[in-house]
Amino acid sequence: MTARIIDGKAIAAKVRGEVAASVAEFRAARGVIPGITVVIVGDDPASHVYVRSKERAAEEVGMSGKVVKLPADTTQEQLIQTVESLNKDASVHGILVQIPLPDHLDEDEVVRAIDPRKDVDGLHPENVGLLFSGQTRFAPATPSGVQRILVEEGVEVRGAHVVIVGRSNLVGKPLAGLLLGRGKGANATVTVCHTGTRDLAAETRRADILVSATGIPGSITGDMVKQGAVVIDVGTTRVPDSSKRSGFRLAGDVVFDEACEVASAITPVPGGVGPMTIAMLLSNVLAAAKAAASVPG
Ligand SMILES: NC(=O)c1ccc[n+]([C@@H]2O[C@H](COP(=O)([O-])OP(=O)(O)OC[C@H]3O[C@@H](n4cnc5c(N)ncnc54)[C@H](OP(=O)(O)O)[C@@H]3O)[C@@H](O)[C@H]2O)c1
Repeated sequence: MTARIIDGKAIAAKVRGEVAASVAEFRAARGVIPGITVVIVGDDPASHVYVRSKERAAEEVGMSGKVVKLPADTTQEQLIQTVESLNKDASVHGILVQIPLPDHLDEDEVVRAIDPRKDVDGLHPENVGLLFSGQTRFAPATPSGVQRILVEEGVEVRGAHVVIVGRSNLVGKPLAGLLLGRGKGANATVTVCHTGTRDLAAETRRADILVSATGIPGSITGDMVKQGAVVIDVGTTRVPDSSKRSGFRLAGDVVFDEACEVASAITPVPGGVGPMTIAMLLSNVLAAAKAAASVPG
């Protein structure tokens, strides 16, 4: 079998187009520009690239995208104060604090300081609880993107056995919550694996849909994939590559060529899940702006 390559860029472009149309309608009806502010602490070059791309993507769909840059020696109190002033700013509908934060800052406390109605990353405990109780307000963007890919590709999730490798709060756990739900692109039987899983290959080989989010290139080999499975590779790791101008390339978790021999469909890296993340984030910002203006969905 040679797997169909899933075009995440095309699906993301479709989502961004839908968001742009809805933003235009909302602006015309309400005179409100949906706004996202990203807070970044320190000068990690990769984080600055991500933040710039979020700002640009917001502007492309007719939103206002702003960045608050804070120095690396910002204190916890200063960061919390910044978040609190954004909480009070009515022109800001979505707040995102770029992670990782420098080591001296407490990420969990910062997330808890964000007004849950502006927590477009879906990481505030209130939003996590809403997702797991089937009342999702904001699902984290990457798992939402995975679910949207499955829906767009016509993959039957209902009744499928989904195996997720990785249990982070950002990807694995919320994805499990979404796919366990009852709606469209859900109703799956879900297994979540991690480094404590006794026989990982035995678990992954049972998957109709295998999602890997380990961040370890090569951690999913072809023999770990069931014949005909759909493989979604969330892993995005920078590996040194002297043939690239940047000096690195992005690698997924899955040994792509091997998995292509057995899977029925697969996401590439780059060009699979990655482009979906920003698109789904923008969709959350629009939802936040609509909720603030009391416009349904
Ligand atoms: N495409 C995107 O936009 C996007 C967005 C977010 C993340 N990502 C990428 O997705 C990957 C995962 O991100 P994350 O934030 O979820 O990472 P993370 O917090 O490091 O979590 C990795 C998870 O994988 C598990 N794991 C690692 N090696 C394993 C192994 N050999 N066997 C079984 N489980 C293993 C870990 O288990 P333990 O819990 O036991 O340690 C952990 O639960 C990274 O490459 C990241 O860059 C991409």
